[in-house]
Formats: sequence, structure tokens, C-alpha cells
Amino acid sequence: LDNGLGLTPPMGWMHWQRFRCLIDCEHYPDECISEKLFRSIADRMVEDGYLAAGYEYVMIDDCWASKKRNANGRLEPDPERFPSGIKNLSDYIHDKGLKFGIYGDYGTYTCAGYPGSQGHLKVDADTFAEWGVDYLKLDGCHIDYKKIDIGYIEMQKHLNNTGRPIMFSCSWPDYQEEMGMQANYTALQQTCNLWRNWKDIEDEWASVTGIVDWFALNQNRLAPFAGPGHWNDPDMLIIGDYGLSYEQSKAQMAIWAIMAAPLIMSVDLRTIEPKFRDILLNKDIIAVNQDRLGIQGRFILRKEKIDIWTKPVLPKEEGGHSYAIALMSRRVDGYPYRLNFTMAELGIKNSNGFVLKDLYKKDAPLKEINDSEPIIVRIKPSGGEILLATAKPSSTPATVEGI
Ligand code: GLA
Repeated sequence: LDNGLGLTPPMGWMHWQRFRCLIDCEHYPDECISEKLFRSIADRMVEDGYLAAGYEYVMIDDCWASKKRNANGRLEPDPERFPSGIKNLSDYIHDKGLKFGIYGDYGTYTCAGYPGSQGHLKVDADTFAEWGVDYLKLDGCHIDYKKIDIGYIEMQKHLNNTGRPIMFSCSWPDYQEEMGMQANYTALQQTCNLWRNWKDIEDEWASVTGIVDWFALNQNRLAPFAGPGHWNDPDMLIIGDYGLSYEQSKAQMAIWAIMAAPLIMSVDLRTIEPKFRDILLNKDIIAVNQDRLGIQGRFILRKEKIDIWTKPVLPKEEGGHSYAIALMSRRVDGYPYRLNFTMAELGIKNSNGFVLKDLYKKDAPLKEINDSEPIIVRIKPSGGEILLATAKPSSTPATVEGI
């Protein structure tokens, strides 16, 4: 969508994967979906370096609304959980230098049964704009998936008419692709800044690998539609939650960076362990994701049960691309496996060779290699690694086959 937003993949925090529809504030006052939660997350975003690293949106997912619209037909937040109102919360978030996002649904109800925007698109767009919303995730529960495109295109017009720049996250392809239908990505690219293509992520490794496999399988169809202003969205990062090990978390971050995926955290930032926080805040990996070329990287090959993905990124110096290379292991044989591959095997060539950097090892020495020299990476079971191969300047620019 050409609205000046999302020129690099959006980065932020959203509550769904970690907090779901927890509305029992009596028993869980610090975890329930309430203004208190979002204020405390906003504090952490700023004080713990997430905003500085690029994570700028604080976003409410489902279960914030009152069960009924008010007398004027407007959406309202649950009065007990959001006693100060959404505008007040949005002001708090903006005052911290962050941006504010909210969730709605184009159907009659949201997925968790709160009021949907069906028949109320204009008034809801106006309400969101009045509240200072900078990002809208519009879900697609409770609507015929075959007719879903129309509503999103209409909502985009209403959002545009508000005059407020609002990042538009669409769930429409998810509902169609899950039903075996291919979504219209040309329309998506024109209507939305990002879109959820596939199933919800859940707090387990199998969910991550399932999503990654689906994107790899469909990459030739999807990747051409990613770029500045419009991104495929494989769903939230679950790094720091309960389901992924440290190694698996490294893998998710590496692959999401390579896929030019939105980096939307969904973790309790008040209690996250430092080693997971370090993954989320890794500047070099974020730079791969945020590269301004905005090319969605691709799965290249599976070697010895280890998937290798690459993504071209801007050259550090004139003369050619650099390539980020992510590895994701499907091995379970209990020791750090020694994988051996070459740039030539990945289809990447540069006559003067490359300088290699391991983005998870801050102090590792840089290594120079030519196209056919073996690159050796030790990778733990179901782990992830990511390297940056910077093409050394040469008269013929580096090339990669197929991208
Ligand atoms: C759907 C979406 C999720 C989340 C829930 C909320 O399942 O795909 O990301 O927003 O609805 O109910």
C-alpha cells in the first residue's frame, strides 16, 4: 500500500500470542488485557532498548472491546479494563515516542466474539483515527472468505479518508489460503501494508517449522509481492515465551529476518530472560530484516537436514550485494553438527569472494572466503545461525541465481 508507511518491515509488540484473551483481572491483574498491561509494556519498550532497536509499535490484539457498541454505534473499550479510555492510552504510548496499534475484524464479530466492523466500517475507521491509532490489524473471522477482499478494500478507503496515516495489516489471505484458495496478492499489495498469509503461530517449535515450511513451499508465489510498503507476514515472534528453546529462538529470529517479515514480539517484556532479549535486540540481525531493498529472502536448499536461506541486502561498499545466510536445523541428534557448504552451492557468485561475519557471535573474527571455499558452521539441534557474506568489491557485481 502506497501510504508512505512500512517502507521496511514493521516492528513492534502485540499481545496476542503471549496473553491471548486473558480478561480475568481479578485473579491476574498484571497479565489481563487492560490499559495497565499496555502501559507497563510501553515502559519496558523504551527503558529496555526495544524502541531504540526499532520496535516502535505497541499494539492491542483482540478482547479489548466492550461486548456491545455504545448508543452512537461506536466501539468502546471494556470500561473496567480500560477505565481511562483508548485515547488516553494512546496518548501515553505516543508521549513515550512509540506508536499505537489496535485490532478489529471485518466480519460480524472478532475471532474471540467481540463486535466486528461489518456494517460499521466508516465509523470504526473514524473512531480509530480519533483515538490516534497508527496501525490497524483487521482480522477476518465471521465473514465469507470468498467475498472478503471487498471489505478490506473498502476499509482501506475509509482509513485513507480519515487523513491519518494508519499502517494496515490485513488477515484476508490467511482465511483464503487456509481454505485452499490462492489470495489475490496484487490486490493485497495495493490495499495493505502487510498481510497474514497463513496459520496463527502457537507457542511451540512445530508451529514455527510448519509456518516456515509453508512459506518455503509457496515462496515463488509470495516473495515477489514483498517490498517497501507491503509485506508478507508469517505472524508474531514467540521468542522468550514458553515453547521455544534458546536455539530454536535463534532460528526463528534468523528466518524472520531473512524473510523480511514484520518483527512483532509477543512476550512479557517485564520478565523476559536476558538471553532471549539479546536475540530480539541483535542489531546486525535487525539490520538484515530492515534492509531498505526490502527483498524477501528465500529457502535455497536443505543439506544434511539443515535448511539454508539467503537474502540479498545492500552492499556495504560499491560493487555488489551482500547476502545474509540463515541456517535452520531439523536435526535432533544431540550434538553441534558440523555443516560444510560453499557460496557456489547457494548459487551466489562474486569474483573477489566474500567477507563472512557470524551475526550471533559478536566478537568472532571476520573470515574471507572465495566462492568455492567451504564455510563451516556448527549448529545445535533444531538451532539457528545467521551469517552475513559481504561481497568484496569487484568489477562484476555479485549475483545470486533465482533472486
Ligand atoms: C485470529 C488471528 C490471531 C488473533 C486472534 C484474536 O486467530 O489470526 O492473530 O488476532 O484471531 O482472536
